[in-house]
Amino acid sequence: MTLEEIEQGKAASLAEIAAADDAATVEKLRVKYVGRNGSIPALIKGMKDVPKDERPAFGKAVQAWRAAVEAALAEKGAGAKAAGPVAAVDATLPGRWPAQGVEHPLSRVIADAARIFGKLGFTVADGPDIENPFNNFTALNTPPHHPSQDRSDTFWLAADALLRTQTSPVQIRTMVAAKKPPVRVICPGRTYRRDTTDATHSANFHQIEGLYVDTKPVSLADLKSVLAYFAKEMMGNDGAGVRFRPHFFPFTEPSVEVDFTCHVCKGKGCNVCKQSGWIEIAGAGMVDPRVFGHVGWNPDEVSGYAFGFGVERIAMIKYGIPDIRWLYENDLRFLRQLA
Ligand code: PHE
Repeated sequence: MTLEEIEQGKAASLAEIAAADDAATVEKLRVKYVGRNGSIPALIKGMKDVPKDERPAFGKAVQAWRAAVEAALAEKGAGAKAAGPVAAVDATLPGRWPAQGVEHPLSRVIADAARIFGKLGFTVADGPDIENPFNNFTALNTPPHHPSQDRSDTFWLAADALLRTQTSPVQIRTMVAAKKPPVRVICPGRTYRRDTTDATHSANFHQIEGLYVDTKPVSLADLKSVLAYFAKEMMGNDGAGVRFRPHFFPFTEPSVEVDFTCHVCKGKGCNVCKQSGWIEIAGAGMVDPRVFGHVGWNPDEVSGYAFGFGVERIAMIKYGIPDIRWLYENDLRFLRQLA
């Protein structure tokens, strides 16, 4: 048979199979073409008589013919009926389970935070990973000479584009988009810093920002009560308290660092909290009046608070994960343990 004849034979056989409309005909065609004494196996047997230099092309064409015929037969359901129900469905075999994924711990912390703050009236706001320096720095009172703007700290993409170093720029976007208060949002998202990766650092991590601004007076006590509620709900720690330590952030005044009562020892002191009874969780403060100025709001008419914390940090503390890198390796054995 020439290659051309093989092609013709293939076309004819496929047409025959396509036209077959009952199981008996399909079975007959199966026997005719690919059965033990069928025409295609006969061609394969006859390969040895084909001149050596033509053999590869010939073999390839015959195999392609066989594959096409088998696919066409399978489509017509060949074999299933002839083989009978016993071979088709072996009820003694273990069933096939669909592989089920588990929620990643970082997704879980973000979802939990959205649910907890949702109960307090916060909605989820979003912003892009690529920011402009105004939203990431200037509007947040961070001047150009500030070290955090340095190329050794921030991934600059261009003179006017960078990978956001914090989720705080979403504060600016939210206020600009809202046009007027009140706003009450949390903003989870990826953040980027030029950190060398080790057990507790990653150049790409996640934060959740919170912002509440209103025309009625908002106080540090409001902030504290909201974070105390969050501490209790997130860490599942009934006796959880919140402690504020004075700190500095360019865009809040006053600024604080926020500690939660250690959820492991309930404040008595243990290895997890380095015997202090407290675990540092977040940065926070009252929105600096100059930030309101940057979004065109009158600082005499509005007030608010902001807070921000690391998602990895909460996940590591809550689930006892000793190395931040485990959160990015997607080792199913690790992820399933936390499911
Ligand atoms: N953006 C700050 C940081 O990354 C955290 C923060 C958010 C502090 C909101 C105060 C208010 O360090």
